[in-house]
Amino acid sequence: MAKKIVIETHSAEETIKLGKKLAKHLKPGIILILAGELGAGKTTLIKGIAMGLGVSKVIRSPSFTLVKEYPEKKFYHLDLYRITLDEFLQAGFEQYLSKENICAIEWGEKLKGLKIKNYMEIQIKMKKGDTRVIDFVPHGNYAPGH
Ligand SMILES: Nc1ncnc2c1ncn2[C@@H]1O[C@H](COP(=O)(O)OP(=O)(O)O)[C@@H](O)[C@H]1O
Ligand SMILES: [Mg+2]
Repeated sequence: MAKKIVIETHSAEETIKLGKKLAKHLKPGIILILAGELGAGKTTLIKGIAMGLGVSKVIRSPSFTLVKEYPEKKFYHLDLYRITLDEFLQAGFEQYLSKENICAIEWGEKLKGLKIKNYMEIQIKMKKGDTRVIDFVPHGNYAPGH
């Protein structure tokens, strides 16, 4: 299994750049599970990923809408801040986790009960000022189907 990668950023712009770079390595079936307190930069990183995937319109935090869909890129941005695992399942959101899609899930640690085997855990920690320490921890074969 690949090892954890730790990257530090010092501004929102740098985190967006990192997301853009990360997007180049994403393949269908990848699930990104993002953890980190409010304001850590989860949405910012995902914004960079969306830009890197070539999504034309700028995305905003989906905290109010739970899911942002970019079907033309098969990219799905979920934010579970306001819902429980039960509500996730009842809403049928499990369907997004298919091997054709790329999913980025804020507060994705709520899905622990689903025992997802293959995913990339991304933990963002806030440090002094605008510094963020971002851990990328692969679990299983986080690029299923490849
Ligand atoms: N290094 C950094 N990376 C990401 N965001 C940063 C950074 N430094 C400051 N920020 C700011 O922190 C906030 C992160 O917000 P957001 O991405 O919505 O966080 P989350 O989705 O984790 O709640 C934004 O206001 C952003 O401008
Ligand atoms: Mg957010």
